[in-house]
Amino acid sequence: MQTCVKTHGDLRPASSSSLNPSPEALSRRGLGLPFDPGYDPDVLEQSVRTACTQLVNHMRDSLNGRGKVLVQESIDEIARQLDFDKTIAEGGADLGELVATLLRNSNRLHHPSYIGHQVAVPMAGAAVADLINGATNNSMPVYEMGPAASAIERKLIGWALSKIGWQAEGSGVMTHGGSMSNLTCLLGARAAALPDAWENGVPPNCAILVPESSHYSNSRAAAIMGLGTAGAITIPVDREYRVQPDELARVYDGAVRRGKRVLAVVANACGTATGTYDDLRAIGRFCKDRGVWLHVDGAHGGSVAISDKYRSLLDGIEHADSMTWDTHKMLATSALCGMALFRRRSRMLGTFSQQATYIFNSFEKPGEDISVNTLECTKSMLSLKLFFNLAIVGEKGLASLVETLYDRTRAFHRLIESRPGFSCLCPPDSNILCFRYGDDSAMQDRIRQRLVLEGDCYITRATIHGLSYLRLSVMNPYTEERHVHALCDRIEAMAGREAD
Ligand SMILES: Cc1ncc(COP(=O)(O)O)c(C=O)c1O
Repeated sequence: MQTCVKTHGDLRPASSSSLNPSPEALSRRGLGLPFDPGYDPDVLEQSVRTACTQLVNHMRDSLNGRGKVLVQESIDEIARQLDFDKTIAEGGADLGELVATLLRNSNRLHHPSYIGHQVAVPMAGAAVADLINGATNNSMPVYEMGPAASAIERKLIGWALSKIGWQAEGSGVMTHGGSMSNLTCLLGARAAALPDAWENGVPPNCAILVPESSHYSNSRAAAIMGLGTAGAITIPVDREYRVQPDELARVYDGAVRRGKRVLAVVANACGTATGTYDDLRAIGRFCKDRGVWLHVDGAHGGSVAISDKYRSLLDGIEHADSMTWDTHKMLATSALCGMALFRRRSRMLGTFSQQATYIFNSFEKPGEDISVNTLECTKSMLSLKLFFNLAIVGEKGLASLVETLYDRTRAFHRLIESRPGFSCLCPPDSNILCFRYGDDSAMQDRIRQRLVLEGDCYITRATIHGLSYLRLSVMNPYTEERHVHALCDRIEAMAGREAD
């Protein structure tokens, strides 16, 4: 059976080893099994080269702002371009062409006019890590299934704990994302408050307190944990979407008066819609006084822990019991790479109590089995993404990325406020900025819709206190003032056309 990959575009000549397969590769192919090419190392080499050349060109064009950020064809049109039915039925496709089609139809996060969702613009290290994960699949539920990735995870968790000051007693695990980390941490809170919940379930009066500004995964966790949606009691927030400690006390006391047992309070560092950080010190003191678990959702903003300039936004984190921290938001890893961090290791160990002798055991081993402490069993080699990024740019490089993005957003706030007709919700704490042109909510939504369909720039929207806002998440360090000016010009022109 012949290899199925043709060369594509300006591919460098393949190495002689790929053009002249080894006798071993030839003998394997000689078996004539229909899946042979899938295991052919030469196919891997040529495919990676083909994809790599295109990715490099794609990234270069994107970083230079060439072309649109986003082109959205219909499902059927994309399937047509991929020759979908034939491709999956017959195999033997030209992978170069498939990659070209995929890239043409992908949102280009490296483009400086990508100012959209809180998804990292990935660095090279993360991309290489994903390739290694794809090729070796060391899925690491137990140490022996992925010693390197497991060891790196343990060391990186130690690194993260040291950044937030929890290295003495803390522990944690990497998860597939922030939602998973929030659930893991809140399950830790449940186990701490109700050690028998695993066996007996949860009494009907249990609840957690969740700010109105929190990511939905926190209130969703309440329902998953058996508290029901009624078990996620909302803490109202102020105009800037920040929890006021007095309001927390009012909601907490009211809940207790109604016979509720509060298992945890959630605070944001920072909130999703507006990027506002809660006052962790005040909330932490309150939780300590009441003896209630404080979970900090730092999925987005926890990364300031590595920045000398912005570390103070996490002041008070020493009072928290757990924290979520995603690296696929601010530390330039591809999705997903979350961390569920616990200030006390003993609390983490109590989170899941299950017997599964085929996988969990106490035999002597050179490293720690990770899945004992996670919701997930099979897990990708998450740690490699962060490790390779650090290996290329170092901790200072990632800190400087966070600082650049936060600094830029402050500059964009000044820029937008200085333009007639534009106003911002509030000065940014982080790299998220909500703004409007004029005061018509429906118009903000129409403008956003049109911007995304045109695809020259990509931003999001949010509803804040019932009003629609346009929303920037400044994820790309190459987004400059001129890009934001161009965006504002476009918004003005669209609003002008509506008025005509
Ligand atoms: C504050 C916050 N927490 C949690 C999440 C969920 O993270 P993930 O998408 O990795 O599950 C998000 C996602 O944007 C977030 O902003």
